[in-house]
Order: sequence, then C-alpha cells, then structure tokens
Amino acid sequence: MVEPKLRLRDLNRRFMLRDRAVDALAGISLDVAPGEFLSIVGPSGCGKTTMLRIVAGLETATSGTVEIMREPGSTRPLNAMVFQQESVFPWKNVRDNAAFGLKARGFGKRERYEMVQPILDKVGLRGFEDALPHQLSGGMKQRVAIARAFANDPEIMLMDEPFAALDEQTKLILQAELLRIWEESRKTVMYVTHSIDEAITLSDRVLVMSARPGRVKEIIDIKSAFPRPRDIAAVKSSPKYGEFFGRIWSLLRDEVMAASLVSA
Ligand SMILES: Nc1ncnc2c1ncn2[C@@H]1O[C@H](COP(=O)(O)OP(=O)(O)OP(=O)(O)O)[C@@H](O)[C@H]1O
Ligand SMILES: [Mg+2]
Repeated sequence: MVEPKLRLRDLNRRFMLRDRAVDALAGISLDVAPGEFLSIVGPSGCGKTTMLRIVAGLETATSGTVEIMREPGSTRPLNAMVFQQESVFPWKNVRDNAAFGLKARGFGKRERYEMVQPILDKVGLRGFEDALPHQLSGGMKQRVAIARAFANDPEIMLMDEPFAALDEQTKLILQAELLRIWEESRKTVMYVTHSIDEAITLSDRVLVMSARPGRVKEIIDIKSAFPRPRDIAAVKSSPKYGEFFGRIWSLLRDEVMAASLVSA
C-alpha cells in the first residue's frame, strides 16, 4: 500500500456547551490515499464539518493525531477549503477572487491572471472575469470558490457541501465540472455531502459516519466499480449504482434515525 496523503488516528473532539459536554467526534481513524476522492456522508451534527476543520487546522482535536504527508520541498499551500455558503470576497471581482491565494503566495499580477484564466475557463466563467460577486448567481459564486481552490493548487482539497445551496440542475452541471477538473488534477479531496448520489458519482470511496459522536461506520469502495474518467450518465444507469445507493442508504438510515431521536 502506498503511503497515505492524510492519516487520522483516534481523533476525538469534545465541545463544551455551558456545563454540558458534546462529543462531536469519537475515535476517527482514517487513511486517505494520494489523489483519492473521498466523500463523507453522515447525519446532521455527526461531526463532518468539525473533522474537515480539524484537518484544515481551523479547529483543534481534543485528542488524536492528524498527519499530512507533504511533498518534499513543496511551497504549495497545505489545503484549500470550499464551504457550503458563499466564500467569495464581495468587493473583489471574479479574477481577483480566484487569484487571491496566489497573491498571498507572492505571485505578481500578470502571472496570477495568467494562472487563473484557464481555470476560470474550465468552470465556465469566461467573460465574467471583471464581474463582482453581487452581479453573479449563486452557482457562479460557487464556481468562483472552486476556481480559487484549484488555482491555489493545494496538497489537499477540503469541500464542505459546496453545492448544497444550489438548485438541482445547477448542481448537476457543477458536479460534472468538478469531476472533469478533478480528473485532470487528481488532487486528494475530502468532500462532505448529504447527497448519496453525489457521493457515488464523484468518489473513489465513501465514508459513512455514525450519528454523534461521529465514528467511522463503514467505508465503501466505489472506485473498482467505476473506473476513471467517469461518465456520470453511465454511472447512474449502471445496476451497480443502485446497489451502492441501497447499501449507503441502509447504513445511513439507521444513523439518521438515531440522530433524530437524540435531538428530539
Ligand atoms: N464551536 C462549537 N462549539 C460547540 N459545539 C460545536 C461547535 N462546532 C460544532 N459543535 C457541535 O459539534 C457537533 C458536530 O457539528 P458539525 O458542524 O461538525 O456537524 P456536521 O456533521 O457538519 O452537521 P451538518 O450535516 O448539519 O453540517 C454538533 O453537535 C455541534 O453542535
Ligand atoms: Mg456541516
């Protein structure tokens, strides 16, 4: 087995709400391979966002370890995060939003613009480079956030329900675009979603989490059934797709029920 890109060992996170302890994550151990697309599904409140934030260094674990195997001598950023809600700067135009991380890394203006243009083209933003976020639709703003993340060329990409706020059709288009861009770059991705469909069509493996405290319930291998590059329509019409869907839903259903009983 190749060395993983990311290794989580016995990760725990406890939050204190007044005098009450809330265990968000309990004993998460997980390896993510270099260039792997891993989706994470689990009931609301099971600690998905917390896990991503810990990997991103935005949150600390109560105990356990996170190891990211960096490329030797790399000057690339460790990670880039794309959030569910708009994470673009409202005062910057599309081009400058996409180039933001490159600016922080010291690239000059011309160089930055040259680097982001092909990515803006790929996510369908050609012609909108000078637009400000308020002049864009919700889907276009998420495209800007995705373009920025890819332009940054991070070692690991962390995506937290990036398409959740979008309508169904826009979501389908962006899924296909994400798949295409990812298949070219083969970045290591951790992708949180509530959509079983999205998890199957995009991922190499799907991690199903238990209700809070979040644990690894099962990891399902999708990759061997659907090699790359993928044709989304072919994936969805395959009998295997239905099998995966049924399997993931049966694992998830119990946990969603458990989560709703806990919070009731
Ligand atoms: N900063 C915080 N302070 C206290 N509790 C927190 C904090 N952040 C998260 N939690 C708690 O940790 C648990 C997990 O939250 P988290 O946001 O990681 O869940 P999630 O799986 O991303 O849920 P969703 O699917 O709804 O986005 C929840 O019970 C939440 O209340
Ligand atoms: Mg969340």
